Amino acid sequence: MSGLKNKVAIITGAASGIGLACARRYAAEGAIVVGLDINHSDEWESVKAAATDSRFHQVDVTDGAAQKAVIEETVRDFGRIDILVTAAGVGDGGPVGMLDESTWDRVIDINLKGTFLSVKAVLDKMCAQRSGSIITIASVEGVNGTEGGSAYNASKGGVVLLSKNVSMDYGRMGIRCNAICPGFIDTPMLNQVMDLMPELKADVVRETKIGRLGKPEEIAGAAYFLASDDSSYVTGHALVVDGGYTAGHSHGIVQMMGLV
Ligand code: NAI
Repeated sequence: MSGLKNKVAIITGAASGIGLACARRYAAEGAIVVGLDINHSDEWESVKAAATDSRFHQVDVTDGAAQKAVIEETVRDFGRIDILVTAAGVGDGGPVGMLDESTWDRVIDINLKGTFLSVKAVLDKMCAQRSGSIITIASVEGVNGTEGGSAYNASKGGVVLLSKNVSMDYGRMGIRCNAICPGFIDTPMLNQVMDLMPELKADVVRETKIGRLGKPEEIAGAAYFLASDDSSYVTGHALVVDGGYTAGHSHGIVQMMGLV
C-alpha cells in the first residue's frame, strides 16, 4: 500500500479510536503522520514503526497558538501539509433544560472551535501550495438530531456546515474539504456511553442495517479515500459512514418476512 507516499498528514485526536485508526492507515499508505492529542498514547509506537518520520504532539485543539506551532514545525521539517484530519472530539450533552453552560461551552469549544482552529492552522500553507485535502470528522448526529444530543448535535452540525463553507471558499485554491459523518463506531468514546446504557447499544445495533457497530478502521478507509487522489473531484460533501443507520427506520418487516 503506498497511495499516500510522501504525503504529510496532520491528524488531531490521534491518540485513540478513529484518529488513531486514520494515523495507522495513513502510515501504512506511506504518509508522514503528525498526530496531535490532549492525551498521550503508547499505541503511537505502531504508527512510528510503520512511518519512521511520524511524530506525536500533546496539544489541546482549543489552543490555536499551540496548533499553529506544530504546523510551523511540520512545515519547517517536511516542507508541506497535504492532509488534515480533525478527529479530536468529546461526546457530551443532555436535554437543553438540564444542560449546564459549562458543558455546552466545553463541547462546542473542542468539537467545533477546535475544528475551526485546526483548519485555520493549515490553510496558509495549503493556499501557498495550492493543494490540500481537509477531512473533518463530524457525525450522523450532525445531520439528524438525537435524543439528549443538544450540544453534541449543535457542534457536529456546525462541523458539517463549516466543512462545506471551507470547500466553497478554498476550492479554487486547490483545497478540498469534506466531512465524514460516522454512525456508531466501537471506540472508547462510544463504549463509555454504551457501558452505562446497555439497552441503547442493542437498540443502535437493531437500527444499524448491517447489524453491528462500525470499526474505527472503516472510518479510516473513508478518510483514506478522501485524502487520496481517487477523490480529486469530491469536495463539500458530508459522507455518511454508518452501516445504514440513517437509511430509514427498521420495523422488523424483513424479520417478519423471514429474510433474516
Ligand atoms: P475517542 O475518545 O476514542 O478519541 C477522541 C480523541 O480526541 C481522544 O484521544 C481524546 O484524547 C482526543 N481529544 C479530546 N479532547 C481533545 C482536545 N481538547 N484536544 C486534543 N485532543 C482531544 O473517540 P472517537 O470515537 O475516536 O472519536 C473521534 C471523533 O469521531 C470525535 O470527534 C467524535 O465525536 C467522532 N465520532 C465518533 C463516533 C463514534 O461512534 N465513536 C460517531 C460519530 C463521530
